[in-house]
Amino acid sequence: MADRDFSRICDTREWELPGYEPWFPVSEKSNPLTCDIDKASPNHIVRLLAACDAQIFQTKSGSTYERLFCDSIVHSMKEVTKMLEHILRDPEDSLVVLSGCGTSGRLAFLMATCFNRILKDQEQKPLYTYIIAGGDKALLTSQESPEDDPKLGMLTLEKICEGKRRVLFIGISCGLSAPFVAGQIAFCLKHPDVFSPVLVGFNPVSQARDEPMPGSTLTFRALVQKMQQKGQRAFIINPAVGPEVITGSSRMKGGSATKILLETILASAHTAAITNTHVTQGVLLARMKAYEFVHSATYSHSEQIAALIQSTGLSLQRGGRVCYVAWGSLGLLGLIDASECIPTFGADYEDVRGFIRGGYQDLDNIEGDLTSLGPQFCISHEDFMHLVLPNLSDRDLVLLLYTAHDDLDEVEKMILRVREKTSNVHILYHRLEGEAAADSMAPLCSSVLSVTWPFPSPDLNLLHMQWELSSKLVLNAVSTGGHILKGKVYRNHMIDLQVTNSKLYHRAGHILQKLSGCSQTRCEETLLKAIYDVETLTEDITSARVYTHTISASRRSRVVPLALVCLLMGCSLSEAKSRLQSHPVVREAVEACVTSSTPSSP
Ligand code: F6P
Repeated sequence: MADRDFSRICDTREWELPGYEPWFPVSEKSNPLTCDIDKASPNHIVRLLAACDAQIFQTKSGSTYERLFCDSIVHSMKEVTKMLEHILRDPEDSLVVLSGCGTSGRLAFLMATCFNRILKDQEQKPLYTYIIAGGDKALLTSQESPEDDPKLGMLTLEKICEGKRRVLFIGISCGLSAPFVAGQIAFCLKHPDVFSPVLVGFNPVSQARDEPMPGSTLTFRALVQKMQQKGQRAFIINPAVGPEVITGSSRMKGGSATKILLETILASAHTAAITNTHVTQGVLLARMKAYEFVHSATYSHSEQIAALIQSTGLSLQRGGRVCYVAWGSLGLLGLIDASECIPTFGADYEDVRGFIRGGYQDLDNIEGDLTSLGPQFCISHEDFMHLVLPNLSDRDLVLLLYTAHDDLDEVEKMILRVREKTSNVHILYHRLEGEAAADSMAPLCSSVLSVTWPFPSPDLNLLHMQWELSSKLVLNAVSTGGHILKGKVYRNHMIDLQVTNSKLYHRAGHILQKLSGCSQTRCEETLLKAIYDVETLTEDITSARVYTHTISASRRSRVVPLALVCLLMGCSLSEAKSRLQSHPVVREAVEACVTSSTPSSP
């Protein structure tokens, strides 16, 4: 693609027009840039990803949406930073809780442990903790149903904060939609003497979810409006970052923007507390601009990212495995990326897996070692060597992620071990100018993506946070691109998603409506037939709650593809099953249906 075309892509702000998919919040709109991403080459996929990610940093420029660098957003960030500064100066009996569901909860964990480590290095006590819906097993595997439970959210928060004098609660819900987080915010609002709630998300308040939450008449939107009422000591930080590359996949831009926003707040408060100064909007802006540089530094390696996507796609198409073997906090980024492939692309846990040096000891999660829960929870390099490596072959891909600050001898040894089983070895390596290049490893690998960062860096912790974001962008590109090439995406929709909570249930219904053109009622009926595996719906099924549907859906696979084929072909469930069997690649199955259901021109 010529550079002129690329800048045209970056300029596209069509999604901001009032008439563009007005019935969806920004986080659920489809991105007009990526409507043909399923047919794109790896090079083009990377260009589209770069353009979509660039939307995070776009300025407001006449649109109605508040954006990352807007005064109102940076002002709220400053207020929250000031609250944290006070706590850091007098931390006794205080707690900062970061909480969320899915990727939002995993990032809460990443940041809470990172800033506790910074405090520990300064010989201070830990101040941060995290909550993830579904507990620690949700750090590594998809646990979607607790997201729907506001009471569980509230009780978990209450328990973790017992005896605290002051709590800064930061709830993350990219779509302003998760009842689990809403329950916690509602609890904070009831106890303003102790709790100061902050909500982070990426929709305007008017687009927050407006459906009563289980066990309550309250909606997420009504709750956010309550936060905005005069006299409430509550903050909402919700810039629009544009629709996701794959519709609704908030692990991508939503996750990146969460990391940018919260690390900016947390790091700025720490600096202010240490230097005995006060944070300014200028400081916050400068920190966020540094993340914009991460975007350009990372995507300046587009060709290498595209090559990685190509190899990942090939491995997945051949039924091979993709393993991220990583050092330091990049390991957590690998685990996070791998965990989301299951609900997003209907992947098996073995398709994409992450392994971290030091396993649970380095992870430092509340519930400790989870290995006994099953093979999905085996995450150390030793687990990789004992359980995975012996069965690897050339169709499997191993991506090693590390930095110049890790033990490079250990990395080299690992590469040599892996090479005995597969030549499909790739590396993603970060270093500062002047630090050792990946030269000695390069001949051992199929591809090397080495990102060099300018020296001197203002702060080592900040540098590592930037390397994490850079790695996140690459990993998101690799797993999304690989699954696109495997045929798990149709246009820019995840058509093989798991329907395991109410948000995903409604998303599935919308996907069916959009792709089949059938009515909402017909789509929902067909979805239910696929979920319950029946040709005719009974009264029991139609009168059941969405929660019951999601429990049944969690026991089945390919419910959305099946429903879509039924709708497109006007056929029975059993016919749809045999069609899907003859076209195992979901996108091809859908395309075959679209072609055969389109009347030929006279
Ligand atoms: O329900 C699944 C999911 O979409 C995850 O993929 C995502 O990370 C999580 O929900 C959290 O969503 P939100 O941040 O919008 O609450």
